[in-house]
Amino acid sequence: MLMEVVLTLVVGFVGVWFVVFWSYYRHIKRVPSPRLWPIIGNAMEFTTTSEVLTVLDSLYKKLNTKTLRIHIGFRTLVQTKDYKFLEFLLSSQSIISKGIGYSFLHEWLGLGLLTSDGQKWRTHRKMITPTFHFKILEEFIDVFNSKGKIMIEKLQKEVGNKSFDVFPYVTLCALDIICETAMGTCVNAQNEESSLYAKCVKDMGRIIQQRGLNPIYHYKVIYQFTKLCQEEKAALKVLHGYTNSVISKRRAQLEAVAKSTQKTEDDIGQKKRTAFLDMLLQATINGVPLTDKEIREEVDTFMFEGHDTTAAGICYTLFNLANHPEVQQRAFEELKDIFGDDTERECSYQDLQEMKYLEMVVKETLRLYPSVPLYARMIKDDVTYNGMVLPKGMTIGIYAYGIQRDPDYFPNPEKFDPERFAPENYDGRQPYAYIPFSAGPRNCIGQKFAILEMKASVSKVLRHYKLKPATPTHHLQLAAESILKAVNGVKIAIEKQTY
Ligand code: HEM
Repeated sequence: MLMEVVLTLVVGFVGVWFVVFWSYYRHIKRVPSPRLWPIIGNAMEFTTTSEVLTVLDSLYKKLNTKTLRIHIGFRTLVQTKDYKFLEFLLSSQSIISKGIGYSFLHEWLGLGLLTSDGQKWRTHRKMITPTFHFKILEEFIDVFNSKGKIMIEKLQKEVGNKSFDVFPYVTLCALDIICETAMGTCVNAQNEESSLYAKCVKDMGRIIQQRGLNPIYHYKVIYQFTKLCQEEKAALKVLHGYTNSVISKRRAQLEAVAKSTQKTEDDIGQKKRTAFLDMLLQATINGVPLTDKEIREEVDTFMFEGHDTTAAGICYTLFNLANHPEVQQRAFEELKDIFGDDTERECSYQDLQEMKYLEMVVKETLRLYPSVPLYARMIKDDVTYNGMVLPKGMTIGIYAYGIQRDPDYFPNPEKFDPERFAPENYDGRQPYAYIPFSAGPRNCIGQKFAILEMKASVSKVLRHYKLKPATPTHHLQLAAESILKAVNGVKIAIEKQTY
């Protein structure tokens, strides 16, 4: 009897798997795929985040294709670094939903700008876009300066060391910056090692990663009973509690000011500077203000999307400069032209505009090391591309890291060469080949902010320290986590800068 039950369950399971598999396979069978095993599909090829990029690169090469088909359990994924296909996907006004992996972010971010779709995404995107106007970004330069100054002080203790990992310094600085700009509050992540908020942000990054890696954790029915889920709940209690309390305090302050007849800037809080939060509190959709929950979703989204991404970009830029002395020298000369030998003068918005060569360095770094190496779209309704139906429910992986290192678009792609982005060499005619910030309607809303922050932070470091390669030579071991992570750290050495 037991045997029969087990047999029925197994046959039923395999039957369901086959029906699901076939519903996708019959449409996309002409897309090349690595060898498939029943049920598990290609799961054995992708077991750790550190293997994803090397496995994908070797599969694209072996199958001599720019688009791949991958099956893992019940899931079918098409992975692409094909220019035309990317143009089709990223420029689409209708293929705007995110892949299934983004659901692991829902508990923390709810349906904020990154994770929502449909009408909610459209109205919120329209409402939030003016928040990134350059006039507002200009106000944030002070924050980049003051938090960068703390980082410079912290780095002092590494002077003379043959090798150290710069990532922890930069990531705490980026966290301080995003808290101050998004919420107008100071969590002091760089000075207070015990900052609970900072710890919980870090915990969430790890938890989301671990959840993504283990297929068992993908199913909420199982996940909710795991230790990891308990850790997530504990972290979210702190994170949501903090954001909620900042929102309600700020709302009360704004209401008090609105009632008061003598409205001064100081009345609306300790800080004169506007934070993203203030704009969200004042924004309305068809005359209706956002609810506290909607505001929290957006603020938390900025916290998540706006700190590790930028930190990774800053770290890899420092790494590239350390390992390419001629590029570093040219970037430093540019800074000397702007600031002379005055290391204390604060950088202004205008100074950042003048750092043209540094901007080329940053862009080339994001080509070789895109902070978000892979992202995805979900097909909500069957759609036809190139005579092939992309069936509803299928995820399409966008391989930014792959296309940006493809010799068809970037000759000699492994070479770090900022000249590629010199105005005479880069005319932006292939906008879907360089996509560190994605492209089209769902591109990164924070890209101008990110470039400014990266230039402000890197220039601050360069004005104080000469960057050197680590000894022994450090080779980055890259892993496709929620950001492009060097699992062995981003190691460099520093000396006091000489003028
Ligand atoms: C070097 C730094 C950054 C990189 C490389 C980067 C990259 C990206 C990419 C690739 C996407 C598209 C993701 C997808 O399609 O799933 C994205 C979306 C987004 N980014 Fe960034 N980002 C950076 C910094 C920032 C910053 C500083 C903020 C906020 C202050 C931010 C806020 C967002 C938001 C809200 C979205 C979702 C936009 C939408 O779907 O409408 N990002 N980013």
